[in-house]
Amino acid sequence: MKLKELLKNILSEEELEIAPSSFDVVGDIAIIDIPKELEKKEKKIAEKLLEFKQINTVLKKEGKVENEFRLRKLKYIAGEKKKETIHIEYGCRFKLNLEEVYFSPRLGSERERIVSQVKEGEKVLVMFAGIGPYAIQIGKKTKAKIVYAVEINPKAVKYMEENLRLNKVQDKIKVFEGDVREVVPRLKEKFDRIVIPLPKRGENFLDVARKVAKKNAMIHFYTFADSKEKAVENIDAKIKVLEVVECGSYAKYSSRYCVDFIFG
Ligand SMILES: C[S@@+](CC[C@H](N)C(=O)[O-])C[C@H]1O[C@@H](n2cnc3c(N)ncnc32)[C@H](O)[C@@H]1O
Repeated sequence: MKLKELLKNILSEEELEIAPSSFDVVGDIAIIDIPKELEKKEKKIAEKLLEFKQINTVLKKEGKVENEFRLRKLKYIAGEKKKETIHIEYGCRFKLNLEEVYFSPRLGSERERIVSQVKEGEKVLVMFAGIGPYAIQIGKKTKAKIVYAVEINPKAVKYMEENLRLNKVQDKIKVFEGDVREVVPRLKEKFDRIVIPLPKRGENFLDVARKVAKKNAMIHFYTFADSKEKAVENIDAKIKVLEVVECGSYAKYSSRYCVDFIFG
C-alpha cells in the first residue's frame, strides 16, 4: 500500500506533499525518514505503521550514513522499544542491531543475482561482509567450496558469527575481523569470485583484490555513480567488463551499480 494513502487521515494536504512515500522494513522494525516539518506528527505516523501486522517497532532515521562502519543514528518512536531484530531474506535469517551494524534490506534481489552465478567448487571472498548477507546466502544456497568473509566492525562480526549458526553454515564460511587491506594478504589464498560491497571507497581496495584473484576470477564491484558508464570509469584498472547492473538509488541523481568484471 502507498504510505501516503495510509497517512491521508492524519495529515493535511500540505503535510502529505512532504510526507515520505516509502519506508524500509528490517525484520519486524520499520525505519522511516520524517522531514523536520512533520516532527510533531511523527508519533501519529509511527502508530499508523504499527497497524501493519509485521511491524512491532518504528524507528526514525537521524542524520546520514557515516563513518567507516557505515552507521546511522536511529531514534525510537513507537511500539516495542528495541533496535535488534531478525530479518529473513530469501530463506536466510539475519540477526542484527540496526544502529550498531550496516544492513540494507533493499539489496536482497541483488544478492540473489550474485548467488545465482556461483558455481560448484568455487572459493569466494566477500570483502566488507557486514553481518554476512552475501557470505551466508552463498554458503547456504550454492555448492561453493568455501567462503571467506572479512569485516572491520567488531559488532558486525559478532552478529555474522551468530548468523552462521542461525543458518547452519559454520563449516562453509570463515570469518575474519579486521581491515581488508591487512587481513586479505595474510589469508594466503586465491579466489574464483570476489565481492566488493563498499560503494563509497571500494576502488581503494582493487589492488588488494587483484593480488588474490585467480586468472579470470569474477569480481562484483559496487559503486555509486550517475550512469553505467560513470560506474565503470570509477574503476581505475585494466579490466574486462561483463555486466553493469543498477541496484538501487543513492542520492537524487546517483545510483548504486554493480560492475561485474575480470581483471585484464
Ligand atoms: C556498505 S557496508 C556492506 C555490508 C554488507 N556487505 C551488506 O551488504 O550488508 C560496508 C561494510 O564494510 C565494513 N568496512 C569498512 N571499511 C572496511 C575495511 N577497511 N575492512 C573491512 N571492513 C570494512 C563496514 O564496517 C561495513 O560493515
